[in-house]
Amino acid sequence: MRNDAKLLNPNDQNLNNIYMSMIDNTNSLLSVPTGSLAIPQDTCKTALLLSLIIPTYQESENIQSIIKILTQIFDDSIPGEYELIVVDDDSPDDTWKLAQSLMPKYPQLQVMRRQSERGLSSAVIRGWQMARGDILGVIDGDLQHPPHIILRMLEAMKKNADLVVASRHVDGGGVSSWSFMRRFLSRGAQLLGLIILPEILGRVSDPMSGYFMVRRSCVAGTTLNPVGYKILLEVVGRGNVGKIAEVGYVFCERKQGASKVTWKQYVDYIHHLLRLRLSTGRLEKFSQSMGFPIGRFLRFGVVGLSGVFVDMAVLYFLSDPTTLALPLTRSKIIAGEVAIFNNFLWNDAWTFADVSAQQRAWKQRFKRFVKFNLICLAGLVLNVVVLNVVFNLILANRYIANLIAIAVATIWNFWVNLKLSWRVTQVK
Ligand code: GDD
Ligand code: MN
Repeated sequence: MRNDAKLLNPNDQNLNNIYMSMIDNTNSLLSVPTGSLAIPQDTCKTALLLSLIIPTYQESENIQSIIKILTQIFDDSIPGEYELIVVDDDSPDDTWKLAQSLMPKYPQLQVMRRQSERGLSSAVIRGWQMARGDILGVIDGDLQHPPHIILRMLEAMKKNADLVVASRHVDGGGVSSWSFMRRFLSRGAQLLGLIILPEILGRVSDPMSGYFMVRRSCVAGTTLNPVGYKILLEVVGRGNVGKIAEVGYVFCERKQGASKVTWKQYVDYIHHLLRLRLSTGRLEKFSQSMGFPIGRFLRFGVVGLSGVFVDMAVLYFLSDPTTLALPLTRSKIIAGEVAIFNNFLWNDAWTFADVSAQQRAWKQRFKRFVKFNLICLAGLVLNVVVLNVVFNLILANRYIANLIAIAVATIWNFWVNLKLSWRVTQVK
């Protein structure tokens, strides 16, 4: 974390700028936050009006121009009250190094070089996590988002909008010479979003926009969880956004470099919509009121179902007279263990992905697997006990008794794994 200087005189902004530029013109890079993508509540002492993130990947031909233009605009309008934060994902064309070399010339410029995370949306959030502004913004680093409208956006924020979006679909908006296919995909993506998440996408005319500003208080304390390019969906979907303003702009043609949008961004977008649907809908609100993560439990159940198929397939392969014809108990133990391993992999990668992403070390992963295994084996014992109790004392139907036993064992497995195996151990 940058070692922020104590304010010499908290009321004298200019003195503070000189002081900050003295310590900051060593052009040291911003440290890269890790862990969850939560936006901090309050900024450090040197709070600013605006922090504008410029996410970059291979923008060495554009970065100098965008920083020069934005600095001119802001030095004329909000001198000393803003910062530009370039968040570069270790571009092979050394965009971060070029940006860093500009820091002595532009004291309001900060640069973050990410080497272990990638992605446009997470880059923006990591930048916001280090930002000092009360207003958090984002603009592309390739000059396709016209910088000259940014003061109109700031005006809207000063008139108490919580969010202002640069939109291609309001008066003054448009796209330059996009191909029919790109227009079709962009509009198609928007229509799909309106079907899946009408209450979110319906609030803005250009939910695909990557050019907007949001008041920190509307997203502070919220853990944003984006996939791919559409950070605006997270802000509107998970933030506490009231009044939204829009400013029309024409999405310009790239002069240098190339778009990084591939089919993967479209697949990510659909994944993102579905995840937001699951985590912001009525189901989530009900599970929050119950204090029981129903969405996660449903995923755990789906994984458990896949384990049943794996168990059956391995049991067949090992013990069936037409295959290896091994003894039944030995086959069942091996099949059960293979199924547990299958379930661990899927739960670690999907059900509890947000937790395991913060504990990537192999030692931590192995520890989780051992715990998961022991808990599931205990679950197997519980399964057998409940099966016998229900079948012999309550209902002499082995299949219904087995279903009850599986349900009890699944709740046991889920709850104890949630509390022990995939616990978020926030180690300072
Ligand atoms: N740090 C980082 N990491 N930056 C990235 C990454 C990444 O993985 N991928 C792209 N960027 C940066 C690019 O360098 C550029 O500054 C900006 O994000 C947009 O990337 P483009 O690849 O140029 O996207 P686009 O122009 O096709 O689409 C943009 O504009 C649309 C309309 O506003 C994106 O912002 C879309 O999200 C947006 O919908
Ligand atoms: Mn672009």
